[in-house]
Parts: sequence; structure tokens; C-alpha cells
Amino acid sequence: MHYFRRKGWEIPEREATPEALFLDRRAVLGAGAGSILAGALPAVAAEEPDPSASLYPAKRNEAFKLDRDLTPEKANQQYNNFYEFGSDKRIFNRVDTLKTRPWTLKIDGMVEKPFEIGIDDLLKKVQLEERLYRHRCVEAWSMTIPWTGFPLKQLVDLCKPTSSAKYIQFETFMDPKMGPGQKLSWYPWPYIEGLTMAEATNDLALMVTGAYGKPLAKQFGAPIRLHTPWKYGFKSVKSITKISFVDKQPKNFWQALQSSEYGFWANVNPAVPHPRWTQATEEVLGKSERVPTLLFNGYGEQVASLYKGMENEKIWF
Ligand code: MTE
Repeated sequence: MHYFRRKGWEIPEREATPEALFLDRRAVLGAGAGSILAGALPAVAAEEPDPSASLYPAKRNEAFKLDRDLTPEKANQQYNNFYEFGSDKRIFNRVDTLKTRPWTLKIDGMVEKPFEIGIDDLLKKVQLEERLYRHRCVEAWSMTIPWTGFPLKQLVDLCKPTSSAKYIQFETFMDPKMGPGQKLSWYPWPYIEGLTMAEATNDLALMVTGAYGKPLAKQFGAPIRLHTPWKYGFKSVKSITKISFVDKQPKNFWQALQSSEYGFWANVNPAVPHPRWTQATEEVLGKSERVPTLLFNGYGEQVASLYKGMENEKIWF
């Protein structure tokens, strides 16, 4: 994030045969950076059988459409930000240490009754659907992706927060054996993110458990992650193990590391540059093109009302 800026996207993707290439979003870009040729890429390690596999593909919710092509899965799966496995983008071949079963989510803080729930029990209580979403990383690249998941609001309702809860805080697992990047002590582990209750209950806020019609690949943040498509990608915390309802604004991972560059809100705004680069345009993964970035990443109609009157505050980084 703040240590270097990836240049991989500057090289055009090989002609995508979407179905056939569906396993490799970002390697193609890495190939452009001179690292390795797309055709010679190692195969993605076989996933362990996933007990939730029969839930996929879920029915697509047609209300969530895209104005651009889907990023080929192959490109998407080999160019990831997941610092628990390293600070480079090619962590896909190092994520085997992430064990996604058993996987327990702990719910605590300002709720009627704290509880723990296993991922497969949770999946029985929610309604999965597929949504086509845009994702805009703060590093100025973007992708589009068919997520499978359920509105975060369904989970909030299950948790029964009390009226004192003002924010929801998410935590990624903390286990340096699973995520060796956590041995690097200068990072403020565990990865934490937060939303206001109003943001969390907006219909766009999605708890993601699958992508491309299958359970999430480990590098996407299996078995469960968040996606808030109107915010910069770092808000979309991966491999969540703890959800806390709190009354103070959570300090997120990047904010704790570099508060002059990253804040709590992180709403996408092309007119507000990152201190070290423009946010006016973005490189589309899998394509050799830069396109203009849109306010709220194009989701203003659904979310602008959340920030009415706050436009001149620091809600853009
Ligand atoms: N969550 C955790 N736990 N660790 C991370 O390093 N990176 C964030 C976000 N969630 C990150 C994380 C950033 S910077 C981005 S852009 C997205 O995940 C990337 O998601 P993707 O790899 O699925 O594209």
C-alpha cells in the first residue's frame, strides 16, 4: 500500500478466454512486470473440499449490474492484497497455510448476548445471492467480480446489537502460523476495519463467502470477508473471525500504520488525491486501459445520503 506502487497493470492482459482463463486475475499483470509469463504460471493449488460447496452457484440478484466486463477469474486470483501472507501481490501460492475449517466467528461488544457461530451454521441462517460488484483499490487499480454473499444487515440482525452500538468492528484471524506475515512486528496486527451502523446496514454492504460461483478462494479472504464497493478496497477486510459492536470509532489497520494517508471513512472520490498519487483514474485489471474513477465508485445513488452534510469533512481517505 504505502511502501510501493504496483506497476503490473501497465501491461496488457493476454487475450482473455473468460471461462478458460478463469483462474488467474492478476498473474497476467505480473507477467507484464517481467516476473513470469502468463502461460507458464503454476496452477492454483487445489482447494480442500469445502463443506459449503453445494450452496454455489447462488442465484444472481439482477439489481446489481456492471457497466464493464467482469475481470477474468484467473487474473483476479493471482494478484491480491493480503498482508497476512506478504506484501507482494502474488500471495496466491502461499495461502495454503490458511485453514478455513473449522472457522468460528465471535460476536461481542454491545449486543444482547455475545455468541460464537461456526461458518457453516451461519451459512444456514442467511440467504446467499450473487452480485456483480466493482472494487476500487486505494492504489488506483480496479476490478469487477461476481461475489456470492449476503447483506451484512442480515448478520447485524442476527447479532442483536443494543442501541448503544454506533460502530461495527471486524477483525481478521491472528495466528502467525496461518498468516506468516503476522510475524512482522511493525504492522499493527490483527487487521481491523470498521463501519458505522448506518453503513453496515446499507444494502450494498456485503458479507462475501464466494466468488465466481464457488466458495471463496483462500487468497480472496476465505471463508468470509466484507465488501463495501463504494469505499477503497482496504475497508473490505478478509478472513474475519471477530465482529464487535462498539460505541467508539474503530482505528483500522492502515490508519494505525499511517494515519496521514489512511483514515476511517475511505469513500472513493476522484477529486481527492492520495498524498502520493492521483485518484482521478484507475487501471482496470485484465485490460490495458485507464478509466476515470467515479465518486463513491459509481454507487452514489445508494450511499451518498449516508454522508449528507459531511462532504467537507475527512470522509474521502
Ligand atoms: N484484509 C486483510 N485481512 N488483509 C489485507 O491485507 N487488504 C485489503 C483488503 N482486505 C487486506 C484485507 C486491500 S488493500 C484490498 S485492495 C483488498 O482486500 C484486496 O482484495 P482482493 O485481493 O480480493 O482483490
